[in-house]
Amino acid sequence: MLKGKTIVIGVSGGIAVYKMCDVVSRLKKLNANVHVIMTKSATEFVSPLTFQSLSMNPVVVDMFEKIQKWDIEHISLAKSADLFLVSPATANIIGKIVNGIADDMLSTTVMATKAPVIIAPAMNTNMYNNPIVQNNITKLKEFGYNFIDPEQGRLACGDLGIGKLANVTTIIESITNTLINNKPLDEKKILITAGPTREPLDPVRFMTNYSSGKMGYAIAEAAAMQGAEVTLISGPVNIPKPSNIKKYIPIKTATEMFEAVKENLSQQDIVIKTAAVADYRPKIYENQKIKKSDGDINLTLTRNTDILKWIGMHKNPQQYIVGFAAETNDVMENGIKKLHNKNVDLIIVNDITSVNAGFESDTNCVTLIDKNGLKQNHAVMPKKELAYVILDYITKQISK
Ligand code: PMT
Repeated sequence: MLKGKTIVIGVSGGIAVYKMCDVVSRLKKLNANVHVIMTKSATEFVSPLTFQSLSMNPVVVDMFEKIQKWDIEHISLAKSADLFLVSPATANIIGKIVNGIADDMLSTTVMATKAPVIIAPAMNTNMYNNPIVQNNITKLKEFGYNFIDPEQGRLACGDLGIGKLANVTTIIESITNTLINNKPLDEKKILITAGPTREPLDPVRFMTNYSSGKMGYAIAEAAAMQGAEVTLISGPVNIPKPSNIKKYIPIKTATEMFEAVKENLSQQDIVIKTAAVADYRPKIYENQKIKKSDGDINLTLTRNTDILKWIGMHKNPQQYIVGFAAETNDVMENGIKKLHNKNVDLIIVNDITSVNAGFESDTNCVTLIDKNGLKQNHAVMPKKELAYVILDYITKQISK
């Protein structure tokens, strides 16, 4: 997704430096070219060798013996950056940048860059709330620098309050959102289904599954971020609806989802069916609460329409259709069967028995299989990042 993008990361000293190892590693997985500049104090927390191994690029550290190279390096790194991230940013580096003090490699390079700069502060609560620091942040914002606010929590000093470095996923999202400003899905209409369905049995009971909606909502939000006009049809979930989508249709049952899909399908360029739709519903809905008795009771279930299969039969040739397959066994075989049975362009297979994958988890681990049999495996990553990876794949396919 970030292929061809160069991200320069300035790491200043603080306990949160260790989190940047994960940031660098995830950016590499998204194919970015990453360069790390460390202040001397940052090297007290994590060795430059760690960042060098993760970024696969030499790490520049502020040391006087390298002073002869600064001129060359700070200009070339500053020029090559598509984005400059300062994280964790101490009160010290923020103070230097706002006052134009360029006395080390990081402050010099950040001053020389024309790339967008994102600053993620991390420091003690009292320092962060200090009016001088707040004033510096306000001034930098006025100059056009972007900030990722720190979070509340227990800080390294033992205090509780604001000052914790933002979480890694928030940092990655902020980078991708800043870099993906060319809106590759501009004017595309995308229908996404997400979450579970509920199949009622009586006024107080229903059959459902564990889908949280996280995967589908992440795709909906990322697609809208990339310029798409998103219609999200969602089963009942407990997560906030993405604020940037065009149309939101809440449904409860598979039948309601089917009706909403039929009504909206013809206008769409792309359909992504992330929802976990119940294959069956109770054949009889009891208008009154079913009373318990001493013995067992038998439930008869009847088939719901396979919505994705119906779409596969009724789509027009220009529409690109994506299904998900949640599998527990013979994962690839079953995924491929669904790809063909449902006549979709792409099936995204998740082995829901894997750790940190599938239902409810914030992360997922999938294999993309297209109708020509091409497979692309993806290691475990946050659903919010995977959403961009999936959309990137689809964008490339539809622009062929
Ligand atoms: O919501 P989360 O907690 O984030 O979890 C994400 C997820 C695990 C639900 C998601 O990644 C996923 O795998 N979704 C598909 C789940 C599923 O129901 O898979 P399936 O193999 O039963 O169905 C295959 C495809 O057919 C799916 O695209 C499904 O939407 C569609 N289908 C299934 C049955 C049906 N009656 N109609 C359908 O359209």
